[in-house]
Amino acid sequence: MFETLKPLPPDAILGIMTLFRADQHAGKIDLSVGVYQDEQGRTPVLASVKRAEKAIIDAQDSKTYVAIAGNAGFNRGVEELVYGANHPALRAGRVATVQTPGGSGGLSVAGHLLARANPSARVYLSEPTWPNHFPLLKLAGLTLDAYPYYDLKKHRVDFDAMKAKLETAKAGDLVLLHGCCHNPCGADLTKEQWQDLAALCERRGLVPFVDLAYQGLAEGLAEDAYGARLMTERLPEVVVVTSCSKNLGLYRERVGSASFVSATREQSQLVLANVSNVARGLYSMPPDHGAAIVAKVLHDSELRALWVKELEEMRNRLNGLRKLLVDELATRKTQMDFSFIANERGMFSFLGISKEQVIRLREEFHVYMIESSRINVAGINRANVDYVADSIAAVLK
Ligand code: LMR
Repeated sequence: MFETLKPLPPDAILGIMTLFRADQHAGKIDLSVGVYQDEQGRTPVLASVKRAEKAIIDAQDSKTYVAIAGNAGFNRGVEELVYGANHPALRAGRVATVQTPGGSGGLSVAGHLLARANPSARVYLSEPTWPNHFPLLKLAGLTLDAYPYYDLKKHRVDFDAMKAKLETAKAGDLVLLHGCCHNPCGADLTKEQWQDLAALCERRGLVPFVDLAYQGLAEGLAEDAYGARLMTERLPEVVVVTSCSKNLGLYRERVGSASFVSATREQSQLVLANVSNVARGLYSMPPDHGAAIVAKVLHDSELRALWVKELEEMRNRLNGLRKLLVDELATRKTQMDFSFIANERGMFSFLGISKEQVIRLREEFHVYMIESSRINVAGINRANVDYVADSIAAVLK
């Protein structure tokens, strides 16, 4: 039977990671996969995570199952991070959250639940979006559509075009929004735009589906949750998926969540029963180790303060690197103005160069980025920024 399967192209992001790992060149530079790197190009385990992990291993005396919904302390901690500890929806018992295997697992669980709750719903994805949104939500059985988001020529959000498309959506459809640090373009909605969008969703009966994979890496933990919190104040139903891959550096541990805001406490209980049933059918229970670490970090005041400081360092470094790259590119006097990169947030921005130029950067200069020209600014450091800027200037000649 397997002969019937079709060959597939490599994954748009992880395929580049594989090419980078296979490259033997000593000076190769990785601006591809969304993984934080420090000034030495390493992705270290956070000190807060290391300490929490040690405490957990020392105290753990059983590996018995936890629960379909995962670690209860983790779920409570995530709810407080996303909505704020005193959010009226939390107090009213209108929020149901389950721990999931990474943010991707969260999207998948949410996708299956949405397809069960409203099989005729359409999910509108931003154009462009994280490439894995499409296969993941399609596998869950959802019908997908797209709304224009980023104007590649003007390097900004095309909010009018976005709203015009969403005005054509029907009540019950979902709008997948990047909570902060838009992946791949780095251009986030302003507070005013979130407010406009909340009004549009309210008026047209649309359900916000917020992918919050980078909380804390744009402006701050509370600031980055602005959109998710606002939507939850204004609308009866909201879905929020989170990830601890980036802001806690727990990539391989696969820690995330899917959180559902319902109109009433009774509906929230229905959601919890159904989402637990979906998770049980997909993978039974999420892995515990990473979530136990997060629960410890979030509920231990000393570890939490250390994590908040480490997160701030990552955020400040990313924002500083954006400015450094822009300044270095400006001195090369290329035909392009890259100043927009300094105003974008998170790990990613599009350089706005062609696929051929991206391939030349990879093959001639050993500088790796996604073929859409998405770069991960965390891969830049003071030791390699000259080489990166020289290489980009060379392919632009
Ligand atoms: C990325 O966008 O590079 C990350 O989210 C990693 C991934 O799984 O694609």
